[in-house]
Amino acid sequence: MIKVVVSGALGRMGGTVAKLINDASDLELVGGVDVRPGTAFGAEVVSSDQIDRLLAEKKPDVLVDFTVAGAAVENVKAAARHNVALVVGTTGFTPKQREEMKRAVEASVPAVISSNFSVGVNIFWFLIREAAKKLGDYDIEVIEAHHRNKKDAPSGTAKTILEILDSEVGTRPKLYGREGMTERGKEIGVHVIRGGDIVGEHTVLFAGNYECIDLSHRAYDRSVFAMGALRAIRWVGGKKPGVYSMADVLNLHPK
Ligand SMILES: NC(=O)c1ccc[n+]([C@@H]2O[C@H](COP(=O)([O-])OP(=O)(O)OC[C@H]3O[C@@H](n4cnc5c(N)ncnc54)[C@H](O)[C@@H]3O)[C@@H](O)[C@H]2O)c1
Repeated sequence: MIKVVVSGALGRMGGTVAKLINDASDLELVGGVDVRPGTAFGAEVVSSDQIDRLLAEKKPDVLVDFTVAGAAVENVKAAARHNVALVVGTTGFTPKQREEMKRAVEASVPAVISSNFSVGVNIFWFLIREAAKKLGDYDIEVIEAHHRNKKDAPSGTAKTILEILDSEVGTRPKLYGREGMTERGKEIGVHVIRGGDIVGEHTVLFAGNYECIDLSHRAYDRSVFAMGALRAIRWVGGKKPGVYSMADVLNLHPK
């Protein structure tokens, strides 16, 4: 049995992950962390200042984090102190925060950190990389849409798309929205839509003369992210300390 604590257990994603853990016969939800205490599927949810006590008492194998960037960095440090492996789905990290997490885990615990745990999005990223290798002279635009409660913009998934594009076509300036007289240069246009209950949509457009390719992914239910997080929970135990991605979990690295 793999023992799991979910941080952000009372939120949309944390709650979905907690439910799937509760339903799985090989996983045990031994506790949760959130801003306020409560319960999730019968497990105690403690306030964030009690995380050390919870980890010491419950001795989980894995801590899953779906919170906000500042909180996630502290939770990662707490898990590293207690030798607990990590699955981190939170987005919106600054480069400095990413570095802080890397430093906290690299000598102590394995951590799967991904801005998107859906299997489909990880294949989508792979396809974008392949397309970008061949279409570097096309104009490129990135469009993403999410529900009205999403806090960070552009999405972590869109930022990962931009990193993939930079690595394949060379770093280009990013232009976040256009207004007024604008001349198309070498930039990558990034467009963010927020509204309603859209779970998550991303499109990358490669536009040339007389033709256009657009690669799109749409998530219809946040359980796709939670199911991917469960794959990462089952995979991460026993790995060497350090940061891993979903590409490692899904074995998607080019041979
Ligand atoms: N990687 C993925 O596949 C994926 C998919 C969807 C969302 N996300 C990301 O997951 C994060 C959470 O998204 P959500 O829609 O569930 O948000 P949400 O606001 O519904 O939930 C976040 C939860 O974290 C709690 N929280 C805040 N500070 C905390 C702290 N210090 N300690 C413990 N808990 C704390 C909040 O009270 C809330 O319950 C966001 O960063 C979002 O972008 C990632």
